Amino acid sequence: MKTELTRSAVIAARYITEGEVVAFPTETVYGLGANVFSESAIAKIYAAKGRPGDNPLIAHIASVEQLDTLAREIPPTARLLIDRFFPGPLTVILPRRHDVPLIATAGLETIGVRMPDHLLAIELLRACGTPLVAPSANLSGRPSPTTWEAVLEDLDGRIACILQGEPTRVGLESTVVDCTADVPLVLRTGAITIEQLQTVIPEITLNDQLVPGTPKSPGMKYRHYSPQARIILCHTPTAILPADRAAYIGIDAPHNPEDFAKVALCQEVDEYARRVFQFFRECDAAGIETIFCQRVERRGLGLALMDRLEKAAHH
Ligand code: TXA
Ligand code: MG
Repeated sequence: MKTELTRSAVIAARYITEGEVVAFPTETVYGLGANVFSESAIAKIYAAKGRPGDNPLIAHIASVEQLDTLAREIPPTARLLIDRFFPGPLTVILPRRHDVPLIATAGLETIGVRMPDHLLAIELLRACGTPLVAPSANLSGRPSPTTWEAVLEDLDGRIACILQGEPTRVGLESTVVDCTADVPLVLRTGAITIEQLQTVIPEITLNDQLVPGTPKSPGMKYRHYSPQARIILCHTPTAILPADRAAYIGIDAPHNPEDFAKVALCQEVDEYARRVFQFFRECDAAGIETIFCQRVERRGLGLALMDRLEKAAHH
């Protein structure tokens, strides 16, 4: 299959209407979209990514009105979060309407929904006239794509079209909150921070991923965000002794920058989050064998960044 590159939301929407899948930018990472009501189009997402069939997808909407086409009801806690954080990098898990095909939700009775805070994404959704389910537009297990070039690297020839936008503003995926329980539960940390969520729902809790048993968010059990290179997390980089072909990303400069084949210095946590997945990909392209990543404090966006770094390190 030839993968068409376009900057036109209208052209991209035509592929969706024809039952194809299209990669598109959002404020978090690039997504791989299909019509939420087309089982055959959704099957193409799983095939193109090599994604396990039991990992559910997030539906993307252009307006709050579209929520009613996806969700059976909107619990009061969800309503509060939607009022405060839509559009934005927050996904709420809601009870699924029965006409949403089960392949979209991997058999679950719930569906994750978010409204991207991104002009081109909204233009595409409007032109399609239907919500789109979209996982991150990478091969399963690889770092999420933050540029259209990264999408092309993973999915060239496997998808019909890429809607080309700028590099994504946030760089990490949305926060996922299960609103079907009495007390909402954060299933995946992301760009909307726990501190922000607590301003609306003080009792909101963080899923303890260490609790034994079936993980509530099916995606959490899979290998994630991984470059080919080995990832080593480190503190302030005073004593790093890099092996051959090593790279470093962090906020503080290493004392021995000349020992690294590649170094990315970030001003603050936001920049680190924005750049980390692309850096992983550049390291792979450069044949880097070990990437040292500086740890950050687990608060604000730092919590989500540490989650991604740890998943990349422990696969
Ligand atoms: O920022 C984002 O969320 C990006 C952009 C493209 O919107 N999308 C994204 O999708 O990261 P994906 O498929 O890579 O991750 C979706 C996560 C997975 O961990 C999945 O298990 C969880 O959300 N999820 C989706 N629907 C769910 C549901 N009904 N119940 C529990 N977890 C769900
Ligand atoms: Mg993903």
